[in-house]
Amino acid sequence: MNARKPFRMTRLHLAAHLAALVPLAWLAVDALTGSLTANPIQAATQRAGLYALSLLTASLACTPIHIVTHYGPILKLRKPLGLYAFMYAALHVFIVVGVDYAFVWEFLLEDLGEKRYIFAGLGAFIILSALAATSFKKIKRRMGKRWKQLHKLVYLAAGLVVLHFTWVVKGSVERLAGDILQPVLFGTGLAVLLAMRVPRIKNAIRQRLPVPRWAPPGQRAAQLKNRGGPAGSLPPDL
Ligand code: HEM
Repeated sequence: MNARKPFRMTRLHLAAHLAALVPLAWLAVDALTGSLTANPIQAATQRAGLYALSLLTASLACTPIHIVTHYGPILKLRKPLGLYAFMYAALHVFIVVGVDYAFVWEFLLEDLGEKRYIFAGLGAFIILSALAATSFKKIKRRMGKRWKQLHKLVYLAAGLVVLHFTWVVKGSVERLAGDILQPVLFGTGLAVLLAMRVPRIKNAIRQRLPVPRWAPPGQRAAQLKNRGGPAGSLPPDL
């Protein structure tokens, strides 16, 4: 029989859902009360875009946090945070295409030539849509190994969003021009998170850090046995 484990909402999960939903409520209140600056469409576009990138980064931070802390429940946040990132990205795209361009595709296509940042944003949005559409358990099971390969594209999506952001703020990393602080901070953070997943780096981190009490017994024993031993022989991450 296929017994299902009952879902337990921990305080961490509740906090994550609230943190992801509060900005939406705040954006809605500001929009309804006319408090979205003198250019409300631009302000709403920017806020939704920034929330989408922040939640994408938060989702990608779960595995590296687990590598350092061994705290298992954090891994359960990857999917909801990723889906919230997609929700804000969809809202962001809707505000641009539906509200700003009023779905007049000729205007949007005309602007495509001048605004190269749209290509980077579109590429990221297509990837995030594919990841969201395949996030259901049934599809995951049916896709097998291909699911993991497809979901690795999340880093490409994050890179495209950082490029999109850099181009939006008319920034250049080589010339240190434009308001590039935020895109550079996100880009650096994402690069660190990606580097932490490289097996050699991951194992080096785990071998140097103390093994916490809450680490699963098997992982704890394997890690203690490997202390000082060759990197690469630790149990794989979840
Ligand atoms: C078809 C896809 C997309 C289009 C057409 C689009 C369009 C735009 C536009 C027009 C702006 C500039 C707003 C302004 O300052 O006037 C912008 C900014 C931004 N977008 Fe997108 N975008 C797309 C996809 C995405 C995705 C998928 C993400 C994140 C997951 C994203 C994140 C951002 C961010 C972070 C900014 C900068 C916000 C700021 O200046 O604080 N965009 N986008």
